[in-house]
Amino acid sequence: PIKALLFDLDGVIVDTAIYHYQAWRRMANTLGFDISEEFNEQLKGISRTESLEIILAHGGKTVSEEQKLELATRKNEWYLELVSQMTPANILPGVPAFFEAVKAAQLKTALGSVSKNARLILERIGMLDDFDAIIDGTKITRGKPDPEVFLKGAAELGAQPDECVVFEDAVAGIEAAKRGDMLAIGIGDPTVLTQADLVVPSLAQLTLERVLTLSAVGRP
Ligand code: G6P
Ligand code: MG
Repeated sequence: PIKALLFDLDGVIVDTAIYHYQAWRRMANTLGFDISEEFNEQLKGISRTESLEIILAHGGKTVSEEQKLELATRKNEWYLELVSQMTPANILPGVPAFFEAVKAAQLKTALGSVSKNARLILERIGMLDDFDAIIDGTKITRGKPDPEVFLKGAAELGAQPDECVVFEDAVAGIEAAKRGDMLAIGIGDPTVLTQADLVVPSLAQLTLERVLTLSAVGRP
């Protein structure tokens, strides 16, 4: 039976995925190139330093280690400017109702995010107390698609992988969940999140009941 639900943050709980894209785009523009929304899909769930490498390669730029640090720091400052305007109104549709159902069913929840800003964001949207465990970029050594972030979340909640469901908007995040032997629910576009066990446009289109039924069918 399902014991624990593991949630990605950016793009699942809150609409910060767009802020990451805007901040990276601003950085790319200062270097003289642009990044498309389509290109941005592969950055979702990828750590700050790895994202920077991918963007620099895409723009055909070679910079020193010192400049890399500067660029990553500047991107984060721009990102934090956008985040500083956030309120509980930025919580994505369906999240509050879904969490109420989860609490009523007495299931455990963990955050599984590669972001080092995760706690700050949860504070801003008033959801810091909604998670029984928080695994973020400060607690892991390998980013998604490595399953570390979700395996740590499961361990902290005392759950086995087959007792967990992961909610993810990123290709790398779905891969991490599957590599961790967990059920993976994609939030977004089924043609992008092809490895997911089920894809819905947002948590507003999903009931906890459906998730639990799916897990029962998927694991007879
Ligand atoms: C999440 C986002 C990525 C972001 C990463 C690191 O996984 O989906 O877009 O690069 O976190 O975030 P940070 O806030 O530490 O730069
Ligand atoms: Mg995400």
